[in-house]
Amino acid sequence: MKNKRKIESEIDFKSLIKNPIRLFGLVYIYFFVIALAIGIYFVNSLDEIEFNTVPGTSLDTLNIVREIEPKVGGIKPAMDLSIVVNPTADLVEIGKTKYVAACGSCHGNEGKGDGVAAVALDPKPRDFHSTTGWKNGRTFYDIYKSINDGIPGTGMMAYEFLSPEDRVAIIHYIMTMANFPKVTSVDNDKLDETYKLSAGIVDPYHIPIQKSITLLIDENQNNIYMSIAISEIIKNDKVNSANLLKENVLDIEKVVYTYITKLNKSSYNNFIKKLNSDPVALGFRASVVNLMDKDLKTIYSYLKKISG
Ligand code: HEC
Repeated sequence: MKNKRKIESEIDFKSLIKNPIRLFGLVYIYFFVIALAIGIYFVNSLDEIEFNTVPGTSLDTLNIVREIEPKVGGIKPAMDLSIVVNPTADLVEIGKTKYVAACGSCHGNEGKGDGVAAVALDPKPRDFHSTTGWKNGRTFYDIYKSINDGIPGTGMMAYEFLSPEDRVAIIHYIMTMANFPKVTSVDNDKLDETYKLSAGIVDPYHIPIQKSITLLIDENQNNIYMSIAISEIIKNDKVNSANLLKENVLDIEKVVYTYITKLNKSSYNNFIKKLNSDPVALGFRASVVNLMDKDLKTIYSYLKKISG
């Protein structure tokens, strides 16, 4: 059939308005180019495009990295409770030294609440000679509680790091400064009941975070070096079992690394189970699962021997 449509020499723009589809047919290329340009621009600027207009809060790491000292944990021996009611002169002497070191700067060496740091504090450090206004109280037990818990919202912090013996020694020293209620077995029993002093305290091991990260990396670094070294041996090993292994691996270092880090203590059955579930993830060729049991056993024993 002959095409009788005649080609227009000029576009009749007036008639185009009446025929929007034709209009679109003529201009779609512009839309297409614009859309493409926007698309290219978008993809190229993906890195810079910020959907989040509110900046995320970032931690001020300079101020929060406060590493704790590495500390060996264990069970602190039970305290001999008799020192609560019957302190020795030596104990009171120890208490004096510890008091001057830990408490004197605020409470003053004579306990008058006039230490050098007292000026800046509000409320002022307690004057141990005064008998009124104590928040926890003045009995032996009460003072122990103040040392253990501190007085929240004041300069008096919790002295958790002081051992029970040191606390007892310090309290006895404080009690020599003024007239305090007599220490009785009631203080003793209440202390033991609340703080389980005669049971000993379980003290956890503390490893600073930075140190544990370094340890982990070191440990892994060793595994990596070891895998490389063992792989070198395997590459140069000409025995049949080594050749059989090499024929079936994609990445010998990966095989050795996963073997020493994940499969080292695995039984043969466990090894086969892992191998069957994802040989490639372990560094083997997928075809390794088609090997005969005898050959798989050879590979397993070889890996075990060479990595052990
Ligand atoms: C940084 C300063 C500071 C240091 C150091 C300090 N204290 Fe205090 N202490 C205070 C302040 C301040 C108060 C008063 C709190 C209040 O009145 O609420 C206080 C109160 C007390 C009280 C009275 C609690 C009560 O019942 O009202 C006792 C007991 C006490 N301190 C013991 C100690 C001992 C023991 C030490 C040392 C191991 C010590 N403080 C170290 C600042 C300090």
